[in-house]
Amino acid sequence: MRHFISIADLSRADAIAVLDTAEQMAATQSRSIRKLPTLVGTTVVNLFMEDSTRTRISFEAAAKRLSADVINFSAKGSSLSKGESLKDTALTLQAMGADAIVVRSPSSGAAHLLAHAGWVTQPIVNAGDGTHEHPTQAMLDAFTLRRHLAGDDASGQGLDGRHVVIVGDILHSRVARSNVLLLTLLGARVTLVAPPSLVPVGASAWPCEVVYDLDEALAAGTDAVMMLRVQRERMIGGGFFPTPAEYTRRFCLTTSRAARLDDHAIVLHPGPMNRGFEIAGDVADSPRSVIVEQVAAGVSVRMAVLYQLLASTTQES
Ligand code: CP
Repeated sequence: MRHFISIADLSRADAIAVLDTAEQMAATQSRSIRKLPTLVGTTVVNLFMEDSTRTRISFEAAAKRLSADVINFSAKGSSLSKGESLKDTALTLQAMGADAIVVRSPSSGAAHLLAHAGWVTQPIVNAGDGTHEHPTQAMLDAFTLRRHLAGDDASGQGLDGRHVVIVGDILHSRVARSNVLLLTLLGARVTLVAPPSLVPVGASAWPCEVVYDLDEALAAGTDAVMMLRVQRERMIGGGFFPTPAEYTRRFCLTTSRAARLDDHAIVLHPGPMNRGFEIAGDVADSPRSVIVEQVAAGVSVRMAVLYQLLASTTQES
């Protein structure tokens, strides 16, 4: 693996290798000394041009637990805000000794551009690009799903035959796109539920079913429900149909809807959550919620990705 840009670049074996490596990383995190010497002498740059809590901090934690040095770079307060280009920013980071660049951008395709434009030679990791993809989020979601749904010994297994319902603002969700690609690669069946106004043009060609009624979708039975944040900041012009009240009535995972799920079904949310809007606070805090587990899985998965991209380069030097 040279870069980690899109789930579409992975085979099923590649994806399972990342998940199995993440399991090994997770095992090291329960020890009293959690730090591994694997990436000592390397520098990981977090280039974040869009706000983040979970992804930025977990990439930082992951790199540090592998003994890499970390430089955090955010657009706010940098020369990007004076109009400096992505190319010149990347060249500057390369000149300062970056060995890998983790990039979050509001622009779909930014990570691909950095990886393939020929400006820099370092491995590029996509930490979320516009409405396109968020591949490490999908990996940590699959890691969490596999732990709950694939039995005690998940190693070497996918999610064959499992059913995952993804609900909400599919139109603006890079998480949904990456999850549809990854979960189906791992053998799961995926159903998307959203109002028609929040389904992207072209979703009918995705390897999943698209439906518009949450109650009907849940009544058909599911192993997991993944709620998505409604991304009002991406709704240009402020228009939102259905209205927020109508959205909550039809698409919120309320306490009564959650009570109708099968006993074993789990609830996910990538965060940040709009409590009381797309998910009831009681459901987010309930025993079937794995939302906090997802955050912990993010560190293990990002350790695995950085390890796969950088460990061979440290061994060569
Ligand atoms: N899930 C996710 O990407 O969260 P952040 O925006 O906080 O990184």
